[in-house]
Amino acid sequence: MCGSKRVWVSELIFILLAVKGWWSEGCLEQERSALLQLKHFFNDSKHLHYWNDGENYSDCCQWEGVECNNTTGRVIKLDLAFRKRDSAEWYMNASLFTPFQQLEFLDLSGNNITGCVQNEGLDRLSSLKNLKFLDLTLNHFNNSIFSSLGGLSSLKHLSLGTNELNGSIDIEGE
Ligand SMILES: *[C@@H]1O[C@H](CO)[C@@H](O)[C@H](O)[C@H]1NC(C)=O
Ligand SMILES: *[C@@H]1O[C@H](CO)[C@@H](O)[C@H](O)[C@H]1NC(C)=O
Ligand SMILES: *[C@@H]1O[C@H](CO)[C@@H](O)[C@H](O)[C@H]1NC(C)=O
Ligand SMILES: *[C@@H]1O[C@H](CO)[C@@H](O)[C@H](O)[C@H]1NC(C)=O
Ligand SMILES: *[C@@H]1O[C@H](CO)[C@@H](O)[C@H](O)[C@H]1NC(C)=O
Ligand SMILES: *[C@@H]1O[C@H](CO)[C@@H](O)[C@H](O)[C@H]1NC(C)=O
Ligand SMILES: *[C@@H]1O[C@H](CO)[C@@H](O)[C@H](O)[C@H]1NC(C)=O
Ligand SMILES: *[C@@H]1O[C@H](CO)[C@@H](O)[C@H](O)[C@H]1NC(C)=O
Repeated sequence: MCGSKRVWVSELIFILLAVKGWWSEGCLEQERSALLQLKHFFNDSKHLHYWNDGENYSDCCQWEGVECNNTTGRVIKLDLAFRKRDSAEWYMNASLFTPFQQLEFLDLSGNNITGCVQNEGLDRLSSLKNLKFLDLTLNHFNNSIFSSLGGLSSLKHLSLGTNELNGSIDIEGE
C-alpha cells in the first residue's frame, strides 16, 4: 500500500515536471527539435550559436532568426538568410519546414541552395497555410521550381532574384 502510494507520488511529480517543462519553454518541443534538425543543414555556428540543446537555450523563440507568436508560442518567422557558410552548393529538404505550421515568413536567401532533394521539393511548403513571405534570392534554383510553387496559395510576397532562372515566365497573380 505504502509502496504503491510512493509510486503514485513520483508519477505525479513526473507529470508536474513534464507539464512545467512543456509549459515554460515558450516554444513547442516539436518545433525546437525541427530547428535543431535544420541547424544541421545550415551549420553556421557563429549565427546559430543559440540554436542549442543546452539547458540555458530551451526557449527556441529566443533563438536568433526565430520569432514566435507570443500568445501561441508557435514559430511564425524564420530568418535563415546567409546562414550557409561553407561554400558547397547543396540540395535542401523542404519537408524540414513542415513542422512550423503557423509559419508566415521564411527567408532562405543567400544560402547556395541548388534545388531540393527528390520528392521533398518546395511544394511541401503548401501545407503551411499561413506562409505569406518567401525569399529565395541568391541561390541556384532553376526553372523547375515554378511547378512546385504553384500550390503555395497563401503567399503574398515571393523573391527569386539572382537564381538560375531563364526564359519568359508566366506569373498568375490574384
Ligand atoms: C559544419 O561546418 C564545420 C566547419 O565549418 C564542418 O567541419 C562540419 O563538417 C560542418 N557540418 C555539416 C553537417 O555540414
Ligand atoms: C546557464 O546559466 C547559468 C546562469 O547564467 C550559468 O551559471 C550556467 O553555467 C549556464 N549553463 C550552461 C550549460 O551554460
Ligand atoms: C498570435 O496568435 C493569435 C491566435 O492565433 C492571433 O489571434 C494573434 O493575432 C497572433 N499575434 C500576432 C502578433 O501574430
Ligand atoms: C511579442 O514579444 C515581442 C518580444 O518579446 C515584443 O516585442 C512584442 O511587442 C510582443 N507582441 C505582442 C503582440 O505582445
Ligand atoms: C556558393 O558556392 C560557390 C561554389 O559552388 C562558392 O564559390 C561560393 O563562395 C558559395 N557562396 C557562399 C555564400 O557560400
Ligand atoms: C526530409 O525531411 C523529412 C522530415 O524531417 C524526413 O522525414 C525525410 O526522410 C527527409 N527526406 C530526405 C530525402 O532526406
Ligand atoms: C533544375 O534543378 C533540378 C533539381 O533542383 C535538377 O534536377 C535539374 O536537372 C535542373 N535543370 C537544369 C536544366 O539545370
Ligand atoms: C534555359 O536554360 C536551359 C538550361 O540551361 C536551356 O536548356 C534553355 O534553352 C534555356 N531557355 C532559354 C529560354 O534561355
